[in-house]
Amino acid sequence: MRIALAEVKRKCGSFFGKSFELVADFLYNVVSDLKLKKTSKFLDIGTGSGIMSIILAIQDFKIITGEPAGDNWADWQTPVKSLGLEKQISFQPFRAEALPFNDASFDAIFIFGSFHHIAEKTLTLQECSRCLKATGVLVIFEFHPKGIALLRKEIPNHPDAANPLDYLGQLQLSYEIRSNEYMNAYIFHKK
Ligand SMILES: C[S@@+](CC[C@H](N)C(=O)[O-])C[C@H]1O[C@@H](n2cnc3c(N)ncnc32)[C@H](O)[C@@H]1O
Repeated sequence: MRIALAEVKRKCGSFFGKSFELVADFLYNVVSDLKLKKTSKFLDIGTGSGIMSIILAIQDFKIITGEPAGDNWADWQTPVKSLGLEKQISFQPFRAEALPFNDASFDAIFIFGSFHHIAEKTLTLQECSRCLKATGVLVIFEFHPKGIALLRKEIPNHPDAANPLDYLGQLQLSYEIRSNEYMNAYIFHKK
């Protein structure tokens, strides 16, 4: 089901708070510009408030999303239900460092605002690469200092962002970076 971003902002803007306000259009446009097929297999790592999964679902994609069992980071079900997107988003508990999926399972993997929270970042990138198809894309959204400074007005102890490029190790991934005022999107492809 395709839903306008304006409807998400109207219904869920206050629920999602500042981080959504800063980046909703950017997230939407980065996804849209990837021109992914409706039949693509999507993984969203770090469910949180459900923002990333909702941005994907309103563009008519089906998504598996997850975070470690017991994290229960936020009530993501409420906004998903209010938008009628329950059938498009399925939750499965997992850790990014040990993804419970076969090799080459996904066309696209997204990590929005979660990378800096994940303990083993190099292992996470290795797992993402393993689970991506040869033609797949990995997109990691991380706030840059201006975004972090604004977030800290609401969450004073918010951690620094992490740069995925610092954790690539021996992985053979090409990348481009897109930015808005508050956030970078690191877009990786297998070489
Ligand atoms: C700020 S929230 C992310 C926001 C979320 N992506 C959204 O769209 O609303 C951080 C997320 O990282 C998740 N997380 C932390 N460590 C993780 C790990 N090792 N593997 C997977 N997710 C993890 C947390 O459970 C939480 O869901």
